[in-house]
Amino acid sequence: MTITVVGAGYVGLVTAAVFSELGNKVYCVDVVPEKIEGLKKGIVPFFEPSLSEFITRNIKAKRLFFTTSYKESVPKSQIVFICVGTPPKESGEADLTYLFAAVEETAKNFNHGYTLITIKSTIPIGFEDQLEATVKKHASSKFEFASCPEFLREGTAIEDTMHPDRIVIGSTSQKAQKILLELHASISGERIITDIRSAQLIKYAANSILATKVSFANAIAVLCERMGADVEKVLAGVGADRRVGRSFLYPGIGYGGSCLPKDVLAFIAIGRHFDYDFQLLQAVDSINNDQIENFINKVKSAVGGKEGNLKGVKLAMLGLAFKPNTDDMRDAPSIKIANHLTDLEATVVAYDPQAMDNAKRVIKNIKFAKDAYSAITGADAMLIITEWPQFREMDLKKAKKLLKKPIIVDGRNIFNPKTVKEEGFTYLGMGR
Ligand code: NAD
Ligand code: UGA
Repeated sequence: MTITVVGAGYVGLVTAAVFSELGNKVYCVDVVPEKIEGLKKGIVPFFEPSLSEFITRNIKAKRLFFTTSYKESVPKSQIVFICVGTPPKESGEADLTYLFAAVEETAKNFNHGYTLITIKSTIPIGFEDQLEATVKKHASSKFEFASCPEFLREGTAIEDTMHPDRIVIGSTSQKAQKILLELHASISGERIITDIRSAQLIKYAANSILATKVSFANAIAVLCERMGADVEKVLAGVGADRRVGRSFLYPGIGYGGSCLPKDVLAFIAIGRHFDYDFQLLQAVDSINNDQIENFINKVKSAVGGKEGNLKGVKLAMLGLAFKPNTDDMRDAPSIKIANHLTDLEATVVAYDPQAMDNAKRVIKNIKFAKDAYSAITGADAMLIITEWPQFREMDLKKAKKLLKKPIIVDGRNIFNPKTVKEEGFTYLGMGR
């Protein structure tokens, strides 16, 4: 099939890379010319394992093309995937400016029998009529809309797209269903075929249950600290029940990233629109925000003396990205933590294996080190912010010598408390 993918971001590039790998001819359109110029040479604008290899291979095979021109791609395509961003507005609602602009440009460029516009972006429920009207303003040829929400995780995006748990197809049109089923034929995973609204609801509900599990784990962690229990064992015991499962029950400094925080807030706003007060998700969001404060309080108690005073204290932040294996800093908890610590007049030195360039754009007033050991040199404490594997494998004897004080505040519970205490560290984890 010939496909256009609109938006060369995380979702768009991975979608384009995977469908071209599976033998389709794919055009990827973006409005940022520098991005497209780089991509034509195989330069991916962010860090995502294996993506660059997939893109380079398929450019060479002449199955994958990058362009800023809808005109070059849309008229040849049977399917147009819309993968533009839907960032949060101040109210929490999704900003649909990019979505409508992309749909409008697509519509202006139809000139053949039938086009299936498939929305992969996460968009609120109830915009079908407006989207149809936008297309009809510009196009007279046949078209249909479908929703095919995306469930990839950054850091494992290619693997998740090649081997997903499920493929959701939101369309009641048999023709649209047939085209999308055929396109996904060689991809594994359960097929869930439904109407557009249910498909969109699945996406928000899926991210919200993940966020709910994380906030539940964080709430249990707080209780464990107050009760003198060990959250690792408690949640291992809870998650061993197959009805619950162990995944997404790891406490820490709260969920971040470009999707969980924004989609929880957007889902609360969608609920309001349909006259539903989503109290559960309000609590999920509020518990998530509290984790930053909980972490800062641990740092204060560990190094700030009786008063919890951090003025002049030197702190090493290890990890900045919202999770390992990505350089994405969107809504990373590290931003709030760094700002909070510098507001308290601490000196902060940070290191992340991939996210330093992006972090420098969004975190000011801190220093950046060239590696983890340089970051901790002379520091009053080492703070674990992102659970990169290289931090787990650090030489603790060396770390102890480099630190001014042997203190670890572990926001991701990467260390075994017993082991680090035996090495002579003061250790504070989350919930144990
Ligand atoms: P992104 O910001 O990385 O990429 C969006 C791209 O769209 C950018 O390159 C931007 O230049 C381009 N764009 C904007 N307007 C355009 C237009 N009119 N025409 C062509 N290109 C245009 O966004 P993302 O992280 O890929 O997310 C895209 C959507 O997918 C969002 O709705 C998000 O919630 C959802 N989603 C994201 C992920 C993820 O892991 N990042 C996973 C699942 C779903
Ligand atoms: C998430 C979902 O997992 C994807 O299925 C979805 O497609 C995507 O959002 C999206 O809609 O964009 P992602 O944002 O890449 O993917 O990251 P996750 O792996 O879900 O992690 C999100 C945050 O939760 C991270 O900050 C992570 O550190 C935190 N987390 C996760 C915890 O604190 N504890 C856990 O047990 C799990």
